[in-house]
Amino acid sequence: MENIAPALLDWFYTNRRILPFREDPTPYHVWLSEIMLQQTRVEAVKPYFQRFIEELPDVEALAECPEEKLLKLWEGLGYYNRVRNMQLAAQTVMQEYLGVLPASYEALLSLKGIGSYTAGAIASIAYNIPVPAVDGNVLRVITRITENDGDILKQSVKHKIEEQLKEIMPEESPGDFNQALMELGAVVCVPN
Ligand code: ADE
Repeated sequence: MENIAPALLDWFYTNRRILPFREDPTPYHVWLSEIMLQQTRVEAVKPYFQRFIEELPDVEALAECPEEKLLKLWEGLGYYNRVRNMQLAAQTVMQEYLGVLPASYEALLSLKGIGSYTAGAIASIAYNIPVPAVDGNVLRVITRITENDGDILKQSVKHKIEEQLKEIMPEESPGDFNQALMELGAVVCVPN
């Protein structure tokens, strides 16, 4: 594990996919893309992401959007609670953080619909905070590298992996490091 960061980053910088949400990784863009990507494939997310940020370009627009328009923008993606929770969180961000997503892992985690993975992704990719962002892809990559045959559905296994990753997060590029792990899991180190 101590040796994976430089090789992973090298691989990522030459092989990363060009994705719309990587062009301008603002906290709002990272948040939206990670919520969309939770239950939906990258190819399907692309046009939805573009349309959403054109119609609702910032946290304030999301907080104030009428429900009908919001659901229309999400139509076809399913799991509508994702976008309902995003709007509730956007309203909290307007009231408590002057419309700017907080640059703090714990504060992000306290927002509606933001769990450890999404908080880690926003903190690391948008704010360069060295925290892990462990989703199913990352669990698979790390358990294979470390020959860990534990059950990746168990919280204890996930916590251990988060602790292992904290030890090796490169301070200068935590967001790229997290995305390299996700990307490797999505395109090379696939389930079967
Ligand atoms: N899957 C979920 N989030 C991702 C990201 N930021 N990059 C690549 N794959 C992802």
